[in-house]
Amino acid sequence: MKKEMKKILITGANGQIGSELTLALRKKYGAENVIASDIRHNPPKAIAQSGPYEVVDVTKAETIRQQVIKYDIDTIFHLAAILSAVGERDPHLCWNVNMNGTMNVLDLGVKYEMARIIIPSSIAVWGKGVPRVNTPQESVLKPTSMYGVTKVAGELLCDYYVHKYGLDCRGLRYPGIISSETLPGGGTTDYAVEIYYEAVKKKNYNCFLREDTVLPMMYMPDCIKATIDLAEADVNNLKHHSDFNVAAMSFDPTTLAAEIKKHIPEFEITYNPDFRQAIADSWPQSIDDSSAREEWNWKPNYDLESMTADMIQKLTAKFEAGLI
Ligand code: NAD
Ligand code: SER
Repeated sequence: MKKEMKKILITGANGQIGSELTLALRKKYGAENVIASDIRHNPPKAIAQSGPYEVVDVTKAETIRQQVIKYDIDTIFHLAAILSAVGERDPHLCWNVNMNGTMNVLDLGVKYEMARIIIPSSIAVWGKGVPRVNTPQESVLKPTSMYGVTKVAGELLCDYYVHKYGLDCRGLRYPGIISSETLPGGGTTDYAVEIYYEAVKKKNYNCFLREDTVLPMMYMPDCIKATIDLAEADVNNLKHHSDFNVAAMSFDPTTLAAEIKKHIPEFEITYNPDFRQAIADSWPQSIDDSSAREEWNWKPNYDLESMTADMIQKLTAKFEAGLI
């Protein structure tokens, strides 16, 4: 029997994706049915004012469990994580949050017979030994970053809980996510967000990746759509569970800068690659998402052109209002 998603807990809700996913889920499922949580005590205004907010440290199972009981939670969107660049600086923190946090969420999912657990994965699962263009769904997973190691292990753990306990756990391998609401939390693809802010505010950007570094990317509205569509998909149509490739667009910093220049002609970019270059070089340039398209009708709405027009318009409005 299909279990319905009625009471949703979001971990890591203050982050780049959580801050927008929370609002989208509240709109769809009712504000009182979507409980935002994060380790931080200061949620963004839009989250604090639109529904329940709780402080939860995912490495401490009891703090999650208290909210599961308090709100009778049947679904968790588990977004709390340490991303690639921060994870490379502090691999132990990355392992602790990403692995123990995930295990705690999965255990609670089994204990309280939850309807659904959604856990994002990442393009960071790949490393050596795969074609870097149109990287297939089924491929060698040998990441070289600690973040990638935790994402591969997280996918395997989810599939283990699916098969051992019958827990309905689902996940997608997000590309770099680009958005205009909340700044990203310390990843390698962050340049593709920072560049828009700096273009609008200062008309120049010093990029921490080399000019020819092609990476897969996605605009936030497509990320939200993919996440909710997968969560709501009929489980009988799913052959995969925790590891769906999802793609939208791929570009390098030169191409992105040229697109921005169409809107801000005086914009200039310079390059000063740092330790994040090695992480980017280990990731695919584009990925094959045909399984997501076949199993739950995935299809993105935004390409580089439409995303850039929207980003510049939104950030210019914020800049003129003194908000950034
Ligand atoms: P983010 O860094 O912006 O947000 C993560 C949130 O987790 C932060 O608000 C942080 O305070 C919180 N957090 C950290 N430690 C915690 C703990 N112990 N307990 C509770 N909360 C804690 O990350 P994001 O970009 O929103 O990513 C969400 C998910 O999507 C992650 O699993 C990430 O790996 C995945 N992902 C993101 C991207 C991207 O480009 N943003 C790409 C691929 C995958
Ligand atoms: N955007 C993420 C990062 O760069 C990819 O998972 O870490």
